[in-house]
Amino acid sequence: MAKMEVKTSLLDNMIGVGDMVLLEPLNEETFINNLKKRFDHNEIYTYIGSVVISVNPYRSLPIYSPEKVEDYRNRNFYELSPHIFALSDEAYRSLRDQDKDQCILITGESGAGKTEASKLVMSYVAAVCGKGAEVNQVKEQLLQSNPVLEAFGNAKTVRNDNSSRFGKYMDIEFDFKGDPLGGVISNYLLEKSRVVKQPRGERNFHVFYQLLSGASEELLNKLKLERDFSRYNYLSLDSAKVNGVDDAANFRTVRNAMQIVGFMDHEAESVLEVVAAVLKLGNIEFKPESRVNGLDESKIKDKNELKEICELTGIDQSVLERAFSFRTVEAKQEKVSTTLNVAQAYYARDALAKNLYSRLFSWLVNRINESIKAQTKVRKKVMGVLDIYGFEIFEDNSFEQFIINYCNEKLQQIFIELTLKEEQEEYIREDIEWTHIDYFNNAIICDLIENNTNGILAMLDEECLRPGTVTDETFLEKLNQVCATHQHFESRMSKCSRFLNDTSLPHSCFRIQHYAGKVLYQVEGFVDKNNDLLYRDLSQAMWKAGHTLIKSLFPEGNPAKINLKRPPTAGSQFKASVATLMKNLQTKNPNYIRCIKPNDKKAAHIFNEALVCHQIRYLGLLENVRVRRAGYAFRQAYEPCLERYKMLCKQTWPHWKGPARAGVEVLFNELEIPVEEYSFGRSKIFIRNPRTLFKLEDLRKQRLEDLATLIQKIYRGWKCRTHFLLMRKSQIVIAAWYRRYAQQKRYQQIKSSALVIQSYIRGWKARKILRELKHQKRCEEAATTIAAYWHGTQARRELKRLKEEARRKHAVAVIWAYWLGLKVRREYRKFFRANAGKKIYEFTIQRIMQKYFLEMKNKMPSLSPIDKNWPSRPYLFLDSTHKELKRIFHLWRCKKYRDQFTDQQKLIYEEKLEASELFKDKKALYPSSVGQPFQGAYLEINKNPKYKKLQDAIEEKIIIAEVVNKINRANGKSTSRIFLLTNNNLLLADQKSGQIKSEVPLVDVTKVSMSSQNDGFFAIHLKEGSEAASKGDFLFSSDHLIEMATKLYRTTLSQTKQKLNIEISDEFLVQFRQDKVCVKFIQGNQKNGSVPTCKRKNNRLLEVAVP
Ligand SMILES: Nc1ncnc2c1ncn2[C@@H]1O[C@H](COP(=O)(O)OP(=O)(O)OP(=O)(O)O)[C@@H](O)[C@H]1O
Ligand SMILES: [Mg+2]
Repeated sequence: MAKMEVKTSLLDNMIGVGDMVLLEPLNEETFINNLKKRFDHNEIYTYIGSVVISVNPYRSLPIYSPEKVEDYRNRNFYELSPHIFALSDEAYRSLRDQDKDQCILITGESGAGKTEASKLVMSYVAAVCGKGAEVNQVKEQLLQSNPVLEAFGNAKTVRNDNSSRFGKYMDIEFDFKGDPLGGVISNYLLEKSRVVKQPRGERNFHVFYQLLSGASEELLNKLKLERDFSRYNYLSLDSAKVNGVDDAANFRTVRNAMQIVGFMDHEAESVLEVVAAVLKLGNIEFKPESRVNGLDESKIKDKNELKEICELTGIDQSVLERAFSFRTVEAKQEKVSTTLNVAQAYYARDALAKNLYSRLFSWLVNRINESIKAQTKVRKKVMGVLDIYGFEIFEDNSFEQFIINYCNEKLQQIFIELTLKEEQEEYIREDIEWTHIDYFNNAIICDLIENNTNGILAMLDEECLRPGTVTDETFLEKLNQVCATHQHFESRMSKCSRFLNDTSLPHSCFRIQHYAGKVLYQVEGFVDKNNDLLYRDLSQAMWKAGHTLIKSLFPEGNPAKINLKRPPTAGSQFKASVATLMKNLQTKNPNYIRCIKPNDKKAAHIFNEALVCHQIRYLGLLENVRVRRAGYAFRQAYEPCLERYKMLCKQTWPHWKGPARAGVEVLFNELEIPVEEYSFGRSKIFIRNPRTLFKLEDLRKQRLEDLATLIQKIYRGWKCRTHFLLMRKSQIVIAAWYRRYAQQKRYQQIKSSALVIQSYIRGWKARKILRELKHQKRCEEAATTIAAYWHGTQARRELKRLKEEARRKHAVAVIWAYWLGLKVRREYRKFFRANAGKKIYEFTIQRIMQKYFLEMKNKMPSLSPIDKNWPSRPYLFLDSTHKELKRIFHLWRCKKYRDQFTDQQKLIYEEKLEASELFKDKKALYPSSVGQPFQGAYLEINKNPKYKKLQDAIEEKIIIAEVVNKINRANGKSTSRIFLLTNNNLLLADQKSGQIKSEVPLVDVTKVSMSSQNDGFFAIHLKEGSEAASKGDFLFSSDHLIEMATKLYRTTLSQTKQKLNIEISDEFLVQFRQDKVCVKFIQGNQKNGSVPTCKRKNNRLLEVAVP
């Protein structure tokens, strides 16, 4: 919900009061309580009119996000809750739109948050001013100058971990559109004594620690440095590490920032070399060495460090060594060289280190300026941001604190002057009467310090320039004389001093009552620091360096440009630059940020009321409020005032037609606000008392609530009415649509019903007509039929009559013919019986035969010998002729068929015929062999290389070559054998090797026996006593038994001219060696499969089971 809120005034939802001017009652307590209350609610900003009070929260608050920037952008100053962005926006917009140069003065003591505030202002302005690549680069460079300067110019002090040790004023330049063009940075007096010595609990400048922590090993080696802080005398050890600060990371940030700002790599490196040289200078130590003239002369203890410095900076070692031992004073063409004792040598070393560093710092500022300076010569608008070291009080305060506090005095001065002037001017501008308000003016303190004749700085310069012995004591003495009577100066030295008995004031000190408190200054070192002397030998040695940067830092070391005039003192330089700054600030429209430090512990959430009270007092904030309220507590231009309160009066609400001022007048009259409570200025209304404003605000709040209720009421009414109207309109539309739909539906129903009825009627009508037509047609048909029948009957009757008549006529004719025939036959019977009968018979037979042959000719069957068709016999008496004809025809067509055969086919048919003669109806196996052609050489031994030898052994023509099973005579088992039949021989060979096992000449074969059954067993009986018969007869089984037996028969017949005896019997005898064995074929059972099995039963019996 909080996010949804839209604020239109800082008065909305404010915590305490956002503007102290509205504080009621106004006193120190309420002021502090208001600040505390706001601080406790994270409201760190509070206004006094247009001045922003900022209380350091010491923790990051989520109030600087880009969204916040957008919130405050282009909004009026009092529109939102107090914020530094509101001030930045106001300043930027009046710069851009009203062409007024601005300056933002940020004051407060050390650690109050000035530097942070200045960065916030810069980042806000950068965020809201122009866009574009070029503009963005300028912005980036301006913003990135901060980390570089902070690294070299800030240090940890007891008051602030990131205390600015230099003053900085930055002019940001804009073009007429408000786009940034560039900037110029001025720096004020760096606290260089810190380089060589730091108070307890403080650190040297950040850059030294950052370099040693963050540099790579390689860079450290190059710079001849070691990472260990303790190696360097210039780095105090007790607080080398700062909580929450990552020096190494910051080093990277700084290097990156340098790159963005535009430092070349070699420049950045040179800068680090100078830093390294400064660090190493601190490690040079001296020892005394007695000289002949009795004086002590210093000598460098360990030259190693010196050597490294010289290598790093390109300085001749002997030159630098001499510069640490001698001092040459030149006066009026005379050169006097004196030796330095150890103390002087240390002084010279530290002076060199300080000068080297502070000059490097100035060089850096100049280098940054070179990068960020505006590139164009067009007229620029300027916004200056001043972030100077804050007012500080240390245990030991020296020249630096004196200078810093002087600067703060000047700033307070300008604040007082400008605030009062501005206020006064406004009243005059607005034609309002104004009464003077008393406030403490610190001009008197400024005068004490800067007065040209008897100011402290003038005294110091006088002392420094005076011939004779000058010490800090002589300076203090002088001060005591001149300033003793000044009411802000305190010292114990002067005889008539008011502080003779003040023990808190040591003799070597003086005390100044600054606007922000009393500060005790140790006078020691004032003269030296003001002189800021560097022995010429050293500056000359530096000028001779090979290192271009170092050389450029010491231009006075150039012997050609020796200037015997004393350079201006540090004090006078500072005074002059502060004067220039003040002048510069006075030309601009000031915007104030007054920073307040809530506690001394750098801790969040702690609000030390005493500490804050002290700051409020010396900053004169209460007076500021009073001045602001003296005349009138609140002012506002007429237009926004009328806009804000117009709802409180009927005439002005909701619109006022006339001028705004008249409207406000009417409004105030109507509200009966006492006349003394307000005044009309030229463009603004001035309200005297905050109470009046609060009353107005309360009324407004009340009225706003009423208005809100009214608006709500009207809105609700409007909403309901609109809703109702919409509903009604919708309802009408829906009803219309529904009616239309219902009517359409009804119409469709009626239409379809009408159609149905119509179609029924039409159908009925049609059917009626059809019926009538059908009836008519049927009547017509009936008539026709009847007519037809009648005609038919008539016709038939007529036909019958005619037939009767014809029959009768025919019968008469026939009878007549018969009668005639009879008469003729009776007459010719005696002639006919003798000749005609035989002739007629012959003729008739002849005709019949003729007809028979002609018919036969057309009915002849095909020429295939197996065609059994033959036409049926037409006459019984032709039976024998018909059969004879059939036989002749068959013989004739067989002959025709045979005539087509080749010799080969003839041979085959002869063989087949032979087989038929031999086995038909004798052996059951025969019919299955008829269809199989006889091939003879089933085994093609000439094609199988395995049988090469076998083939070679046979010279004759092979008639059968086939594998058969030879039945073993002993046990009836079978073995495969190659069965070969040639013209003269019968050979058996081994199936595997082809080796011939037996050879039987055909003349020795006497008989072949086989069963009548369906098996392939056969025995070959041999001639008794022949050579082949020694083992006895052969018993084989073969798949081609019929063929083999036929071929054996035919071959034997052709070779021996004797018919081979073929015995077909189911029981026959064979001769096995000496035994006669009976081979008996029995019907075997099916379980042995379809293959016949052979078994030797006993010596006399071999049984073959045929399935
Ligand atoms: N607005 C802020 N939000 C959060 N932290 C802040 C804010 N302002 C200041 N601080 C914290 O306070 C510290 C000190 O602030 P800063 O360095 O701005 O003080 P200073 O007034 O510039 O002091 P010096 O005079 O010593 O330079 C910062 O380092 C930061 O931690
Ligand atoms: Mg600072």
